[in-house]
Amino acid sequence: MTFGTGHKLVESADLDVDPRALKREVRRLVTPKSVSEYRAKIASKSDLPEGVVLDPAAGSGGQLLAYSKYLNRPCAGVELSPQRADFCAYQFSGATVNSSVIAICGDGTDAHGVMSIVESRTGQTSICMLHVDPARPMDTQNHSVSEMQPPLKVLLEAWSKYIHVGPNGPAMALDLSPRLASQQMSEIEHIVSGVFPSTAMTWEWLSRGGGRVDRLCLQTGPLANVGSVSRAVRLWNNGSFSTLIDNGNELDSFDMGWSDYKLCTGDLVALIDPVVPKSGLRGVFEKYAGYAPGELVWIGKSERRPLALLQDGVQSESEVRPFVVVQGVVVGRFPSKLDLMSIDSLAALAMKNGVGTIQIRCSSEPRLHTRITDRLRQIMGQVHGSTGFLIDDGGSQDLVLCREL
Ligand SMILES: C[S@@+](CC[C@H](N)C(=O)[O-])C[C@H]1O[C@@H](n2cnc3c(N)ncnc32)[C@H](O)[C@@H]1O
Repeated sequence: MTFGTGHKLVESADLDVDPRALKREVRRLVTPKSVSEYRAKIASKSDLPEGVVLDPAAGSGGQLLAYSKYLNRPCAGVELSPQRADFCAYQFSGATVNSSVIAICGDGTDAHGVMSIVESRTGQTSICMLHVDPARPMDTQNHSVSEMQPPLKVLLEAWSKYIHVGPNGPAMALDLSPRLASQQMSEIEHIVSGVFPSTAMTWEWLSRGGGRVDRLCLQTGPLANVGSVSRAVRLWNNGSFSTLIDNGNELDSFDMGWSDYKLCTGDLVALIDPVVPKSGLRGVFEKYAGYAPGELVWIGKSERRPLALLQDGVQSESEVRPFVVVQGVVVGRFPSKLDLMSIDSLAALAMKNGVGTIQIRCSSEPRLHTRITDRLRQIMGQVHGSTGFLIDDGGSQDLVLCREL
């Protein structure tokens, strides 16, 4: 059904398309299900007003579907691309949801046009929460805030007439690139507070454990932790998650340093999830791990594989344990580059130290990584011993072999 505004309500009964072709169309965009469900669970615990949950750049509609499952509120997705809007309608029709969810094809910045459909379908006249995952240029490491589609400022201004604004501002989840530079993050904050002054904002850095920051989201209003700038989340495959958060005054200053400490045999070391330094929560990590401020030595050539030199192992019940990728004792140094030629001597070093399997946690050439791990498994297949891991040293070019705790 097409409305006078040019927007089209897409209903699955009208679809005459091949679902496999639609899936191909949205494959690259889809937010992983574990992430969208996590977000919906978090939102369900916050104090949302009544109204419609709106995703004005819905893509595959997966995130909206999760909201409709966990929030007891009607949901509406707007998508510019007709094929993607069809996919949304197709997904919504086959899903078990707790509240109505509609797909609209059109421009998500035309709040008036979208609202006329939303109102006619749901009877609701206001938006309780906005989720925005803007499109960004493909295949680029960096992009500017102005390249996001729909443009954030235009979008927020358009929806400011309809979104419920509480004492801490409107409920919004702005799902952004984890590669945003701090300057761009400030620009985004500036846009939000320009349209909605005095809005509470918390940046959320999320990891699924793959050694990188998976998502960066600015949560505002009731979705933010009032007074906290940053939270780091470790999300597990089974949907459970752990959170680290600052209490307003514990955020790292930008010059919290990195040591080039050269590791020694017997040192106790932990590889830390990169969301901790990225979110500026190293100080919070120290506190919950039982260290005085600045007492923990942070070793890192790159923020990708941060290491902490420990005095004691981080206990399994500690709040920060979910943010420790692996911890262990240094058993030997490996003064070579990791390649197919040097694997035999690495295996010999491991066997000499009672290590039976080695996880590669150091920088290595991506194209060689699988061949190296396969070859190591072949050589050490029959060797019994503890689990080990190989990391970059802080103060030299050597690699360092550790036995896992
Ligand atoms: C990154 S994707 C969203 C992905 C989505 N979260 C998912 O899980 O599938 C951004 C989407 O915004 C759509 N888009 C861009 N500009 C838009 C506009 N002005 N109105 C509506 N949709 C728009 C793009 O077509 C794209 O599908």
